[in-house]
Amino acid sequence: GSAQAAGHAAFAFDPIDVATDFDVHVPAGYKSEVLVRWGDALWSDADGAYSAETGVSVDMSDKVFGENTDGMELFEVDGREVIAVNSEYVNPKINLPAASEGKPQNADEVKLLKNLQGVTVMEVARGDAGYAVVKDSPFNRRITHETEMVLAGPLAGHDLVKTKADPSGTQVKGTMNNCGSGRTLWNTYLTCEENFNGYFGATGEEPAGEGYKRYGIGGEGRYAYEKFDPRYDISTEPNEPHRHGFITEIDPTDPTSTPIKRTALGRFKHENASMAHALDGRVVVYMGDDERGEYLYRYVSNGTWQEGGATEGLLDDGQLYVAKFNDDMTGEWLALTPEATSMTEAEILCFTRMAASAVGGTTMDRPEWVATNPLKAEAYCALTNNKNRGVKPNAGGDDTSVNAVNPRETNHYGQIVRWTPENGNHAAIDFTWDLYVMAGNPTVYDNEYAGSQNVNAGNMFNSPDGMVFSSDGMLWIQTDGNYKNEGDFEGMGNNQMLVGNPETGEIARFMTVPYGAEVTGLCWSLDKKVAFVGVQHPGGSWPDGEGKPRSSVVQVWREDGATFG
Ligand code: FEO
Ligand code: CA
Ligand code: CA
Ligand code: CA
Repeated sequence: GSAQAAGHAAFAFDPIDVATDFDVHVPAGYKSEVLVRWGDALWSDADGAYSAETGVSVDMSDKVFGENTDGMELFEVDGREVIAVNSEYVNPKINLPAASEGKPQNADEVKLLKNLQGVTVMEVARGDAGYAVVKDSPFNRRITHETEMVLAGPLAGHDLVKTKADPSGTQVKGTMNNCGSGRTLWNTYLTCEENFNGYFGATGEEPAGEGYKRYGIGGEGRYAYEKFDPRYDISTEPNEPHRHGFITEIDPTDPTSTPIKRTALGRFKHENASMAHALDGRVVVYMGDDERGEYLYRYVSNGTWQEGGATEGLLDDGQLYVAKFNDDMTGEWLALTPEATSMTEAEILCFTRMAASAVGGTTMDRPEWVATNPLKAEAYCALTNNKNRGVKPNAGGDDTSVNAVNPRETNHYGQIVRWTPENGNHAAIDFTWDLYVMAGNPTVYDNEYAGSQNVNAGNMFNSPDGMVFSSDGMLWIQTDGNYKNEGDFEGMGNNQMLVGNPETGEIARFMTVPYGAEVTGLCWSLDKKVAFVGVQHPGGSWPDGEGKPRSSVVQVWREDGATFG
């Protein structure tokens, strides 16, 4: 088609222009429709639960799709399709009565906010009008801030994670601020607890300790949970925040399964998780910690896995590493061991940021999603932006001077780093790296803020965040950046999803989302004819056209019915 005529031979679509409106746009020959919105019923007894004036009532709040959709993955159960999808956070001003001014006034309002976050598991099926949620499916499930879970791995049972309600230190309620996603080789869901610190607050004296400061825990909680639920009050339960900030494994194929928090993968503001299979059969998980000047991590299991084999211990028994990027484009994984950190194993897993500082990892420009190429041994991390680069240290006082992998001071645009493990082995210590792209604005700047060679006036963007590989080896890049379309960002328009060719470096814009929204989360139907894409915090009254804005998952397909991904 004309994509080839335009010199985009690598892409099977015509790249689209920027947008500044309140709609979703996809290329000619593609269509998009909403799959599910915040407040849509997952069970038929919640039909009509959503009101354009008042949102969702507390009684219905655990029976509907949550707000602010994020990472997601699709699973197959005997030919049926089940999506597990995160609801990262809530906007209290949208969910609570206007008089509350965004702060819950009673326990019921806290319960409402808790229920609209977490994870949704939902069956979807194709009908005459595209995919729809299968209401009342036995697979449908809401996992919230109050769902019972197990704490597993070396930190479980330690004094650091014991509370009044759980003297065993092994039974935890809830998974919080579920941001990006991952999946295991054995097809379970990994939900990643990012800004968990914001859910805790102090009604009295705050506990002392570097660990609270490094993670931003203290003061008043974002949603005032601590005023109505003592579990979130660090004055009386100082260890409760030590039980969050993990990667949690969920089996979406078994609605009765108990989610498991995997402490061996470390505690930080987990963005997502990308699992790879090392040549010797060990499993490797790459993970970013999304905060200015924090780190990129890797976990390597001690045990090995083969298709159909046992999975026990693979995410509980292994070694955690932090990345060090050298300026000569080599790098190495530094093991977070008691010897290297002068911390105990439990302290390393509870205060992982401090362990990474102790061994001298490379401070990064906010590591968001990691994605592993299914066709070759390489992985990518979106470094979304960092206004503090070269300006001030991170919360641990670590140096954040400009370096080769984070090369721009006050970095408003972001970059994507790519690394290749030695000998094609994801468990190797050494790697080489390059920058796949430096975002920038070549119409405003003619220096390094113009971006790398593969950025031009026709595909420019800022703040790469979500990243997912399709099975054909294309890198889908989702942005969460400045959408004001002015100044440094003029000509970039609304947030967008682009497709990158890892071989040629070419990048083309595939989708734009409504003004105000970020695009985050991506998975495909089993037949790869439909992509599901998350639209978080839209502006205006999207998608209903009136009333409150509603974060939604949309479905995108080719009009000719062909596969794409
Ligand atoms: Fe929830 Fe770093 O994005
Ligand atoms: Ca993100
Ligand atoms: Ca982001
Ligand atoms: Ca977000």
